[in-house]
Amino acid sequence: MKKIILTGDRPTGRLHVGHYVGSLSRRVEIQNKGEFDEMYVMIADAQALTDNAENPEKVRSNIIEVALDYLSCGLDPDKITLFIQSQVPELTELAFYYMNLVTVSRLQRNPTVKNEIVMRNFEASIPVGFFNYPISQAADITAFKANTVPVGEDQLPMIEQTNEIVRKFNSVYGETLVEAKAVLPERKVCLRLPGTDGKAKMSKSLGNCIYLADTPEKVKQAVMSMYTDPDHIKVTDPGKLEGNVVFTYLDAFATDGHFEKYLPEYKNLDELKAHYTRGGLGDMKVKRFLNAVLEEILTPIRARRKEYEKDIPAVYEILRKGSERAREVAAKTLDEVKSAMRINYFKDAELINKEYNPD
Ligand code: TRP
Repeated sequence: MKKIILTGDRPTGRLHVGHYVGSLSRRVEIQNKGEFDEMYVMIADAQALTDNAENPEKVRSNIIEVALDYLSCGLDPDKITLFIQSQVPELTELAFYYMNLVTVSRLQRNPTVKNEIVMRNFEASIPVGFFNYPISQAADITAFKANTVPVGEDQLPMIEQTNEIVRKFNSVYGETLVEAKAVLPERKVCLRLPGTDGKAKMSKSLGNCIYLADTPEKVKQAVMSMYTDPDHIKVTDPGKLEGNVVFTYLDAFATDGHFEKYLPEYKNLDELKAHYTRGGLGDMKVKRFLNAVLEEILTPIRARRKEYEKDIPAVYEILRKGSERAREVAAKTLDEVKSAMRINYFKDAELINKEYNPD
């Protein structure tokens, strides 16, 4: 079976280091190893509009930011298809037919939607489009017959919903669509990187993110003010690792190679942790190490971004071409869906030429 990969992000802000360990770095790795037959990466602007209807400018202006982040991390438009969701109208049409296969109560039970309704204060008045976005996401995935969807943990209910639609569609109209499998980050720490303040979620409004495009000064400042162990006051005090964001980030980013290069008195993170919990290791030293590790990762990303920023029209052209290619694939699936549903009237010679017999 062909391996077809599809993932996407909502363009509501620049991408941060949480996105990087959560899925971006993995996508680039898969791409460069060539471990796929087709790979699509989608900027989910239509989905972003489901909870930003009154702020389309925010979505519009962040499309280029996300595209620049993708390209600067090494996603390569010669190897994969980068596209914008709203420019593939076939996705909307697919979603329209899938809507008939899903009940309102099923959507109400989707834990991710439930959470978001609370987060966005939608309880009293949920926009229909927002409520419906899991179905739209099923269209995104099935349109490309994607069987592999690398995502964060919060997206598991969407994949489950997608597969229910696939099974329902295939049982009602005949084998047409393909089930998908979510691929989560291998390491638990990468599932959800906390904010620099120790809060569970990185969010722009909390100001606790490190963005891929941040300057070295900004990154350093964020690292130096990171939440550690409030009881670790003197260097000699034993330190706690639990809830200590600096160590969480080191879990996510540091390799033994980084130790060799920047902190050779320790072989690996286990040794550093042991010293910290024993006492005698100051926060500053650990933070400086984390800063060096992050800089090693972010420096080439920043440099590539600078190059792409010089020719923004070329980036839009990449997205335009990708959207065109994506459209061809989605149109083919939509055709198959409509034939399976037998709503392809004008292509159905048997229907058209059938002898008319009203009684
Ligand atoms: N829901 C995803 C997010 O919030 C974005 C997304 C839209 C997506 N369609 C998708 C992810 C299809 C994977 C597959 O980030």
